[in-house]
Amino acid sequence: MKSLLLDALACQNSARPPVWLMRQAGRYMASYRALRQKYSFLEMCHEPELVAKVTLLPINQFGMDAAILFSDILVVAEALGLGLEFQDQVGPIIHRPIMSEADIDSLPRPDDLSSLEFVERGILNVKPHLNVPLIGFCGAPFTVASYLIEGRSSRDFKKTKQWMLNHPSSFKKLLELLSDWSVAYLNKQIAAGVDAIQIFDSWAYVLSNNHFREFALPYLKSILQRLKPVPVILFCKGSSVFAPDLAELCPSAISLDWNCDLKKVRTSLPASIAIQGNLDPSVLYGTKMTIEKEVKGLLDSMKGQKGYIFNLGHGIYPDVTEEAVQTLVDCVKKA
Ligand code: CP3
Repeated sequence: MKSLLLDALACQNSARPPVWLMRQAGRYMASYRALRQKYSFLEMCHEPELVAKVTLLPINQFGMDAAILFSDILVVAEALGLGLEFQDQVGPIIHRPIMSEADIDSLPRPDDLSSLEFVERGILNVKPHLNVPLIGFCGAPFTVASYLIEGRSSRDFKKTKQWMLNHPSSFKKLLELLSDWSVAYLNKQIAAGVDAIQIFDSWAYVLSNNHFREFALPYLKSILQRLKPVPVILFCKGSSVFAPDLAELCPSAISLDWNCDLKKVRTSLPASIAIQGNLDPSVLYGTKMTIEKEVKGLLDSMKGQKGYIFNLGHGIYPDVTEEAVQTLVDCVKKA
C-alpha cells in the first residue's frame, strides 16, 4: 500500500505530512456517543462489526490519513483472566488486581489467543473498507503492569512503585510475561492485516531515567525484536526526555508530547527515525483562528523535514468539538 503515512514512516515523504490523531474515534464525536447510548465501551470492542464501524467513523467524517483500530490497551487484562470493566467518570477497573508473586505465576501464558480473537476479526472486517493504512497497537509492559497492579488509573502509582522498588525480580517477571503477550498479540494483528503498530507506554514518564532504562526500555526492545516486519511507532508521554534511549531501539518513529521543541528533537535523532506529534491537545479548545495559528506554527517549524507525522502530543479530550478537529485536519491537508 502506498500512503502518506507509510512514506513518512520510511522517512521518504516529500508531500505534506500525514495527519491522524490519538483517540480519533471517541466521545467528542456525536456518532460515537449515539452508539454508546446502545452499547458499553467493552461491548463495542468485542463486536467485530462495531469495531470496524467505529474505526471508520473519524476517517469518513474528517479524512485522517490513517485509521487506528478501535480497541483498548487493557483488553489484555481480560485475556489474562483478571476481569475488566470501564465505568463512566472512573475509567478502567481491574476486578482482580495482581497482588503477589503467586498471582503472577498463576497468569496464563500467551499460548492460546482465542480470547482476543475479536481483535483479529475486527481488523479483517475493517480492512476492506479502508483506503488509508490501519494502525494496530498494544500497551507497553510497564504501563499495562501499572494498571494490573493498581487496579485502576492512579495518580501516584504507589503500589506499582513499591513493588518495582522492593521486589524488582518479581516485577520483572510480570514485565516479561506482558512482553510475551504483546508480541503474540501484535503478531496476530499484523497477520490479520494492520499496516503499522503503535506501542503506548503512556505512564513511563513516572519513571526516573535509570528506572526507565531498567523497567521500560528492555521490554520495549524485546517486543520490537520479535515483531514481524511492519513499521513501529513508540509513544511515551514524556518521550522527549527518553527519545535518545528510544532511538537506540531503532523504531520507525517516535511520538512526542507537547513539552518539547519538535524541530530540536528531530535534528538530534537519526534521520532514519520519523517523528510524530506534538500539538497540545488543549489547542482544540481554541477558536478556529487559534487552532489554525497553532497548527501552522508547528507545520512551519517542521517544514522540509522528511519523516514527520502530524498528531497530538496525547489523546483528544472527549469534550472538544467536531468542528475543532475538522479545522485541524483541513489545516494540515492544506499544507
Ligand atoms: O486512539 C483511538 O482512537 C483508538 C482506540 C484507543 C482507545 N484507547 C479507545 C478508548 C486506544 C489506542 C487506546 C489506548 C489507551 N487506553 C491508552 C494509551 C493511550 C493514552 O491515552 O495514554 C490507555 C492508557 C488506555 C486505558 C484507558 N482506556 C483509560 C485510562 C480509559 C478511560 C479514560 C477515558 O478516556 O475515558 C479508557 C477508555 C477508552 N479507551 C475510551 C476510548 C474511546 C473511552 C470509552 C468510552 O467511555 O466510550
